[in-house]
Amino acid sequence: MKPGTMVDPYAIRAQFPGLAGTANGKPFVYLDSAATAQKPLAVIERMDRFLRAEYGTVHRGLYARSMRSTQLFEEARGTVARFVHARSPDEIVFTMGCTDAINLVAWSWGRKNLKPGDRILVTGMEHHANIVPWQITAELTGAELVPCPLLDDGSLDLEAFDRLLDGRVKLVGLVHIANSLGTVNPVKELVRKAHAVGAKVLIDAAQSAPHRVVDVRDLDCDFLVFAGHKVYGPTGIGVLWARQEILAAMPPWRGGGEMIEKVTFAGTTFAPAPARFEAGTPPIVEAIGLAAACDWLTAQGLDALQAAEHQLFTYAEERLREIPGLRRIGTAADRATVLAFTMPGAHAADISSILDLEGIAIRAGHHCAQPVMARFGVPATARASLGAYSTREDVDALVKGLMKVAELFA
Ligand code: ALA
Repeated sequence: MKPGTMVDPYAIRAQFPGLAGTANGKPFVYLDSAATAQKPLAVIERMDRFLRAEYGTVHRGLYARSMRSTQLFEEARGTVARFVHARSPDEIVFTMGCTDAINLVAWSWGRKNLKPGDRILVTGMEHHANIVPWQITAELTGAELVPCPLLDDGSLDLEAFDRLLDGRVKLVGLVHIANSLGTVNPVKELVRKAHAVGAKVLIDAAQSAPHRVVDVRDLDCDFLVFAGHKVYGPTGIGVLWARQEILAAMPPWRGGGEMIEKVTFAGTTFAPAPARFEAGTPPIVEAIGLAAACDWLTAQGLDALQAAEHQLFTYAEERLREIPGLRRIGTAADRATVLAFTMPGAHAADISSILDLEGIAIRAGHHCAQPVMARFGVPATARASLGAYSTREDVDALVKGLMKVAELFA
């Protein structure tokens, strides 16, 4: 363990087989954890063991294997509930992902509760997943989607937020940490303000859940979503947490098996939440993997991970200053985990391709946040993002690669 850090990223790294080996003949440097995180052995082996020895359908079989699988699946729900400090596992709905979870809220809660004259207030730094579902719902209900502008450093314009937040706002959509900018929003304070005008709040925790404690009771929000694959778990699963009384009053959004109480051709009555929102065979293996990932993150210590990552983030920012002409996009006072930038003369895709030749993986593009690109007047950015396994050597390799880019485009 390195002095001054509370976690050892080298020991963490050793638990990730996906980081071993090479890319384009160079040691693999993975700086795209905001897009998706690599998986620790604890997750890989748990899913492997479940598939080999414990796999069966859930909630449907009256035989031992299915009953065991059901028990593990529901225990996974309990683990996820503890991970976000929910009051009950019944507040956890398994979805196909973060996007799916927001669509669920927009489709079910939104269609029932929004009407002409109502407003949905979102920040100007939302991922498309927290914009487009609301646009569709606004179109269907006659409500209006309103974006809150950003300041030049990529932070939320809090004065504008206060101005826009009035009695017409029924839902506020807030990203906790913006995937395109790294801005950390003061969500707790914003929730308090939103509740004061009677609005519900949905927090997109896709980029925060892998990096810091997310406590729904402390945040006091109404809905919170995150994705399995970004918290070192599998793809194909996400989580909607919602207050029990809100979930209980939400109509179903997808019909099918297991979300019902009784079906006749005259009509159907529906199961209570969360089953009401989980039509069809759920992502069973993925739920087991997600629970293993939550346990793994908890065992590392999220506070310690956050502190170690903050040190590395600060180091990375210092080192990026060495690159001639590099412009950081997203310099809010409270920022974390992603480092977005542009370089003169080089398109983000060029930067990514040149780095790829050096074995370095970053993301280039609009990051599913085109309004952010428009706000900063750029078509795209290059983005390096950190994970629990990221090291100074990763950052040093990035800086070396970017020096090459700078020389090529000088
Ligand atoms: N939202 C993910 C990203 O920022 C996919 O890359």
